[in-house]
Amino acid sequence: MVKIIGMVGSPREDGNTSFLVKTALKSAEDAGAETELINLGSAEIEPCVACDICKATGECAIYDDMREISEKLAGADGIIMGSPVYFGGVTSQMKMFMDRSRPLRASFKLRDKVCGAIAVGASRNGGQETTISSIHEFLLIQDAIIVGDGAPAAHYGGTGVGGPIGSTQNDDVGMETSKNLGKRVVELAKKLNE
Ligand SMILES: Cc1cc2nc3c(=O)[nH]c(=O)nc-3n(C[C@H](O)[C@H](O)[C@H](O)COP(=O)(O)O)c2cc1C
Repeated sequence: MVKIIGMVGSPREDGNTSFLVKTALKSAEDAGAETELINLGSAEIEPCVACDICKATGECAIYDDMREISEKLAGADGIIMGSPVYFGGVTSQMKMFMDRSRPLRASFKLRDKVCGAIAVGASRNGGQETTISSIHEFLLIQDAIIVGDGAPAAHYGGTGVGGPIGSTQNDDVGMETSKNLGKRVVELAKKLNE
């Protein structure tokens, strides 16, 4: 069975991003995957201090939740990364995770994992696509495989609209694209595992 991890980059543990990432994971389970959710908002992750120890040793010098998170990601077949839109980009929680993932890249532990992105903003054109692009750029640099929400729509991934907690549940486009992304990630992860 393929394992898919969903990551939530919001400080609001049960906010709109969490809702859409869970929607994608439910769809992944329906498509035959085992899933796990990681909430970056409640994780202890310090910012990268550019000490470059990871370049020399492949290990991070900071001991916090990044170790356990990195191990989990290295063991997964696919990853769905969700972030609220903050000023047209990812949250600081998500960026902190990205910068601290350099040891994973030292040995390309995310190579060939099937990955996709979800972004939620309060406005329909609030920066969902630019936020998803930042996540895609991170994934490219990690040598992961990027998928969108698959045919027939086949766009960027999960694009949600929501302000107050819970409001994204009324956004049909966000729900549908997140569901389709979950299904698409599993579809390709299974093919790669054959
Ligand atoms: C600091 C900050 C910046 C934000 N910037 C944007 C933005 O640029 N575009 C947008 O559409 N929404 C923006 N929002 C709204 C959030 O993206 C929106 O409320 C989203 O649903 C939050 O996701 P969450 O419920 O998972 O925390 C911003 C919210 C905050 C707190």
